[in-house]
Amino acid sequence: MARAACIVLLFIAVIRADPTCVTHHETDVVCTAGPTDHILVRGLVSENKKTTGITLRDCRITDVELEAFHHLPALEYIDLSSNKIRRLKLGVLDGFKKLQALNLSYNMLSKFPLGLFDQKPKLRMLDLKGNRFEEFELGVFDPLKKLKHVDLSSNAILGKNLNPYIFGQSRQIQSIDFSRNDMSNTPDLMLAAFENLDFLNLDRCSLNQVPRFATRLNLQTMKHLILSTNKITSLSNPKIFRHLIKLENLNFVANSIEKIHGDIFKPLKNIQLIFLNKNKIKVIPESLFRNLQHLNNVDLSKNRIESVPVNAFRGTNLKILNLSGNRFTYLQDNFYLELWNSGVRLSQFFFDDNPWQCSCLNDVLVEVKKYGILYRGDKYRGQRPVCVTNEFNCKRQSASNDYYSQMYDNTIL
Ligand SMILES: *[C@@H]1O[C@H](CO)[C@@H](O)[C@H](O)[C@H]1NC(C)=O
Ligand SMILES: *[C@@H]1O[C@H](CO)[C@@H](O)[C@H](O)[C@H]1NC(C)=O
Repeated sequence: MARAACIVLLFIAVIRADPTCVTHHETDVVCTAGPTDHILVRGLVSENKKTTGITLRDCRITDVELEAFHHLPALEYIDLSSNKIRRLKLGVLDGFKKLQALNLSYNMLSKFPLGLFDQKPKLRMLDLKGNRFEEFELGVFDPLKKLKHVDLSSNAILGKNLNPYIFGQSRQIQSIDFSRNDMSNTPDLMLAAFENLDFLNLDRCSLNQVPRFATRLNLQTMKHLILSTNKITSLSNPKIFRHLIKLENLNFVANSIEKIHGDIFKPLKNIQLIFLNKNKIKVIPESLFRNLQHLNNVDLSKNRIESVPVNAFRGTNLKILNLSGNRFTYLQDNFYLELWNSGVRLSQFFFDDNPWQCSCLNDVLVEVKKYGILYRGDKYRGQRPVCVTNEFNCKRQSASNDYYSQMYDNTIL
């Protein structure tokens, strides 16, 4: 620790051209923008055998000259994010073969010349978020055999035009982000080369079904699958997730899901969290989550659920259940006790903004208080009406549901 405490060498070099660059610890060059747009030329950051990292974030760079990164043999990291670069010339990244991370996010790039990455065998991280890519030429990523993390989000990619083999040589990719592109009709073989995928983000990808390219056998290593903010209407194929046996987190927030097959989650033996909030689910099949031993967090809020089968949750490890914003007027008698008896130890339970019959709501409040479960207590202090009818008994009949929920809509909403 003596070393860490000892003098940190801060070597400051102010270089003539704008932007202004400062070198920290002799190895990390950090530049800040000058007053005008800038073409990056040889001389600003080039020619230094000690430099390992260069940060040119938000430096008003419009173009990069061929020798801008000349003679930087130790370079491992370049951040060129938030500039105005439209293209990178073939050869501009040649030399420096130790590069591990390249951040080109938030530029105006739409095309890479074939061969751009030929001398980048060690690249592990490539961030292309927020550019203008529509597609990529086959072969351009082929030299990147060590690639682990790729961010392609917020581009103009049309999945249906992608060549499925563009990442055919990058077998070690662990995380890939396609969010905010149009990935509908993407070829089934798109991710077929991956051997170690952990994280796949398909948020806002204009999908109207769970895409086949995301559920193939070779993706059985995946732990996180994000399919939020799409247009998926049904989860009716019980085999769709059959290969994803290691999946831990599954996110379907903000789709239009109405139908769910009771066995669809069955293969997900390691699932911990399933988010289905903001959909159009009316019916929860009795077998939906049953016996998913590691499942501890389920969000079903903001759906159209009219009855909640306690059986659906038996055999899970559920700790957090969110049923807010649905259409039920009662829960099964002793809902919590029933769960407890089947081994479920819920610690957080949210059930507000449903068209509750007052006596049924009261039954639930008695239970959550008795067992010390966290709930939205602030909703039930009498400031605002939260339930309907003064009838003394909770009517647990689905036939009465419509009657009470109408009453709720008319008097409370
Ligand atoms: C790339 O740069 C952007 C903008 O500066 C930053 O938000 C992002 O985290 C960086 N990417 C990585 C993978 O570090
Ligand atoms: C439960 O869902 C409601 C409605 O979507 C949301 O406002 C609330 O934050 C959620 N609670 C938790 C603890 O996730």
